[in-house]
Amino acid sequence: MLIDSFERRVNYLRVSVTERCNFRCQYCMPEKPFSWVPQEDVLTFEEMFTFIKLSIDHGVDKIRLTGGEPLLRADLDKFIKMICDYAPNIDLAMTTNAYLLKGHAQKLKDAGLKRINVSIDSLIPEVAHKIASKNVLKNVLEGVNEALSVGLKVKVNMVPMKGINDNEIIPILEYCRDRKMSIRFIEYMENAHAVIDIKGMKSSELLEVIKSKYSFKDLGLEDSSPSHYYELDDGYKFGIIEPYEDDFCKSCNRIRMTAEGDLIPCLYFDEAMSIKDSIKRDDINGALSVLKEVVKQKPEKNRWSEDDGESSKRAFYETGG
Ligand code: 5AD
Ligand code: SF4
Repeated sequence: MLIDSFERRVNYLRVSVTERCNFRCQYCMPEKPFSWVPQEDVLTFEEMFTFIKLSIDHGVDKIRLTGGEPLLRADLDKFIKMICDYAPNIDLAMTTNAYLLKGHAQKLKDAGLKRINVSIDSLIPEVAHKIASKNVLKNVLEGVNEALSVGLKVKVNMVPMKGINDNEIIPILEYCRDRKMSIRFIEYMENAHAVIDIKGMKSSELLEVIKSKYSFKDLGLEDSSPSHYYELDDGYKFGIIEPYEDDFCKSCNRIRMTAEGDLIPCLYFDEAMSIKDSIKRDDINGALSVLKEVVKQKPEKNRWSEDDGESSKRAFYETGG
């Protein structure tokens, strides 16, 4: 078992399979990076799988594939199947922008994928286009519908931004409720890569908007999720993630791996240790020591408060958001 220095059990691994993305979301990757990680530095699926097996052997039972956009990598379904064949009870999810999902959802489900998280920041084609810098809405919604029809559970993320999509909080909440998808609103996290003048919405402002139409009760934090949950009178639950808080850190159970094999103990933590060399040498004990060290280094709380509002240096498309 992997236990950190604060007695938290680490059983959740987030694996970014690529930092590349086919969207240019304003809050994440508005410009194509100066250079992508060279292909030879990205771990192959076999190499990632070697590390994943090791983590599973040490108690990881929940994995999320992230990016960038995971579906840009060929043979993702085969990778999923490798993981699920090794650990049939693994809770395997993926965060995707859903643009390439149509025509692939069944294959991914058959391979063992259980759940997906998708960003829907707008239901208005022009606004979605503006946010992602691409005409994405039709493909995204078709991808989501297909995912639902093959039986994947779908969770939606929305990042509300003032003057852009702040008038769509209720429509998106209702869209998700009608389709039995959960929704989480994520407060915009400042970062050095985003468009400079984005104004996010605070949780209190979001709740005011929702209150204008619905009453709800506060359910607080649940399990190891960073999300604060609320329940409408009809029983529908929605979440809000307040990344600048740290009340969710005490139950954090996750570590992250980038596509290059850097292990990161916390999203808001610049230090990382690489497993790439050990994995490439097939040195399993070496990789295990790095894993244990990273778990040991997991900070008690995120560092936003120490940051004095400074932006995070590492891009979310590298760490997998
Ligand atoms: N602020 C808040 N959420 C972000 N995401 C990416 N960048 C940011 C940011 N700066 C979230 C989006 C997307 C997921 C992959 O990460 O909601 O759905
Ligand atoms: Fe791509 Fe997701 Fe970042 Fe948008 S938020 S640019 S879809 S990685």
